[in-house]
Amino acid sequence: MKILIIGSGAREHAIAWKVKQDPRVTQIFVAPGNAGTSSIAQNLPIPVTDLEGLLAWAKKERPNFTIVGPEVPLCLGVVDLFEKENLPIFGPNKQGAQLEGSKIFTKNILVKYQIPTALSGSFTELDKAESFSQQLGFPQVIKADGLAAGKGVLIVQSFSEAQAGLRQILVERQFGEAGNSVLIEEFLDGQEASIHAITDGNSYRILPSAQDHKRVGDGDTGLNTGGMGAYSPAPCVTPEILEIVRRTVFDPLLLAFKKEGIDYRGVLYAGLMLTSKGPKVLEFNARLGDPETQVLLPLLETSLIDVIEAVWKRSLDQIEFKVSPQHAMTVVMAAPGYPENPITGGEITGLEIAGKPNTALFHAGTKLINNKISTAGGRVLTITAWAESLQQARDLAYERLSLVTFEGAHYRRDIGYRALNS
Ligand code: AMP
Ligand code: GLY
Repeated sequence: MKILIIGSGAREHAIAWKVKQDPRVTQIFVAPGNAGTSSIAQNLPIPVTDLEGLLAWAKKERPNFTIVGPEVPLCLGVVDLFEKENLPIFGPNKQGAQLEGSKIFTKNILVKYQIPTALSGSFTELDKAESFSQQLGFPQVIKADGLAAGKGVLIVQSFSEAQAGLRQILVERQFGEAGNSVLIEEFLDGQEASIHAITDGNSYRILPSAQDHKRVGDGDTGLNTGGMGAYSPAPCVTPEILEIVRRTVFDPLLLAFKKEGIDYRGVLYAGLMLTSKGPKVLEFNARLGDPETQVLLPLLETSLIDVIEAVWKRSLDQIEFKVSPQHAMTVVMAAPGYPENPITGGEITGLEIAGKPNTALFHAGTKLINNKISTAGGRVLTITAWAESLQQARDLAYERLSLVTFEGAHYRRDIGYRALNS
């Protein structure tokens, strides 16, 4: 089998690593990939936004499956293009991808189908937004409607902060078209959890729960990032909570898709707040999380190809979906200056740990420069370990990480603290 993976992060390296374990897979291509993917696959110099380039390659090479990693090509409609040419592809079409591409689209579905979520209002006009904001109370959350690379969410403490935020989004257009409209919502308190389901449009399977760590500093301090580490399963998602999430989130969402005529195949990644009044949806993503993928795929025992094939054939309920009872943790090593101004170009050493037992090392921002693997992005690597307990997985991940070096590397030392300290 020939597989094409679209993307260039640690998530896509993890997908390539997982796919490679299936003996049916003979060739893997990653567009555009990174230095890590080039060691197990062939990188293609096609950017994720070059849909015509990706399609032209696929029409010629006829991959058995294409797996889309990031949200941008999904929202641009890469799946629709591939499906038109009868090229099997994993991910929702453009209509379905609005679940991530428009927070207001999602909120409307959640409200219409009574799926628990924060109370909110959506606006295009500044004065109406301001008067809603003033009535709602503080803190509150202001979100640009469209894709803003994780930066379009502001938690504001006062009306003057809200006014400044609304102005930035709606008037100054800090996020461009993504800020044509805003969502203002009540602040929810609790622990956050990521729950990923995979659906073929008729049924769904749930991957183990996970928890991401979005702030750059220990103890959840400092700026927001793309994610500094994750672990799975997350004990805050008890079996009872998972059952509630199935019943109140995923079951009605699948029904909503049917009623709305949305043909959704791919990943449903629910970002949830576990509040004292039950789990509520913060957001949906239309693809696997990064860094969650780096802990979820090592725990998935079923071949990812079997899962993807079943999604394509709409027979997901007919395959065995096996998940390991182990625990996994992944820790992101970031370039100096990340997330504001990452400094790149430093040589990385210690990459041999990738071959050690119960360990995987996934590259994100890395590049081969003069035959040396160097840093080339904000999040540089993620190091995953798995073991019988979360504590053991944690100890192993940090032990492995201590052998990897590059100048100015920084990482959080407390991934999993909520679960380990409770
Ligand atoms: P989102 O992209 O909508 O998930 O928002 C990014 C982050 O903002 C989330 O991971 C939460 O930490 C935070 N957030 C979003 N919405 C809310 C909310 N209603 N209440 C509290 N925190 C929120
Ligand atoms: N882990 C956050 C995300 O993938 O959006």
